[in-house]
Amino acid sequence: MAGLLLGIETSCDETAAAVVAGGRRILSNIISSQVELHQPFGGVVPELASRKHLENISPIVQEAMKAAGVTWEELDGIAVTRGPGLVGALLVGVTVAKAIAFARRLPLVGVNHLEGHIYSNFLAHPWLEPPFLALVVSGGHTDLLQVLDYGRYRLLGQTRDDAAGEAFDKVARVLGLGYPGGPRIEAVAREGNPEAIAFPRAVVKDAPFAFSFSGVKTAVLNYLNRCRQRGETIAVADVAASFQAAVVEVLVERTLAAAAACGVDRVAVCGGVAANSALRSLFQARSAEAGIEVLYPPPVLCTDNAAMIASVGYYRLQAGHTASLDLNAVASLPLASWG
Ligand code: KG4
Ligand code: ZN
Repeated sequence: MAGLLLGIETSCDETAAAVVAGGRRILSNIISSQVELHQPFGGVVPELASRKHLENISPIVQEAMKAAGVTWEELDGIAVTRGPGLVGALLVGVTVAKAIAFARRLPLVGVNHLEGHIYSNFLAHPWLEPPFLALVVSGGHTDLLQVLDYGRYRLLGQTRDDAAGEAFDKVARVLGLGYPGGPRIEAVAREGNPEAIAFPRAVVKDAPFAFSFSGVKTAVLNYLNRCRQRGETIAVADVAASFQAAVVEVLVERTLAAAAACGVDRVAVCGGVAANSALRSLFQARSAEAGIEVLYPPPVLCTDNAAMIASVGYYRLQAGHTASLDLNAVASLPLASWG
């Protein structure tokens, strides 16, 4: 089989559709962001997200098919994100995927969104094969896991509280930088001193590869309150740079320690926070010393997209893991092995 899959992704605030060949070659990758819609509220409003997905999904799917130059008859399957995410948002994608699968008599594949993030590295680096270590750093997750094979994962550690991206978003909000926080903090931090304020680097007792980011977020809040009480002006760029340094250092150090402990010399970073340039440069500096190769997708494949969903779909379909038409969305779907 040529392995042409249409991917559909609506788990949060991006309506996306893509056509991917053989799990690796992107023929089209259409993403409609709802950032402007949610901006006045300082975060994603679930009900608004669902409604916007409903409006966008058909034109986006049609655009993905047109841009790929593919007919419905040429497709080998439809892959859709079934979780984790906002349930109302997920349902839009799942329902549309089921309707297309039924109407066109195509195999349907349900995909875990986190697995999609990991597979974005297969799109970016077509030569990449398991095994490797993956660091998933998004708005909802911070997971460190071993990718043993396609569909075979071993979780080494995850965040005990806030995800890395969530910490970026919350700190950006208290600094008055707006939403989405990650790119705003990154931009402002460029003008600041990352050593200006010593924010904590939390370790989790008895779990060397786990993370905790609520402490650093609280430390930023306390610092800002202290400055206000004393009537001191707040150096926003220094706060942003120091916070970013604290998060990035923990991510890089713990990931490289996990790679050494597992005897793995290749790490694939993915998810929205993988777009962060401070994270990339610290990985570059430290990984060279450790003799570990660190890979990332380009920024457009770090954040939510449907090409990564089509990629997982291809491998699942090859392994015979298709879904029936009663496929449902699951808001807190865990990442489970299937291979
Ligand atoms: O993977 P993603 O698009 O959606 C989820 O699955 O969550 O990740 C979005 C998260 C947000 O928290 C956003 O602030 C963060 O990724 N993010 C960044 C950057 N770009 C996006 N964080 C730090 N630096 C960035 N450049
Ligand atoms: Zn995501």
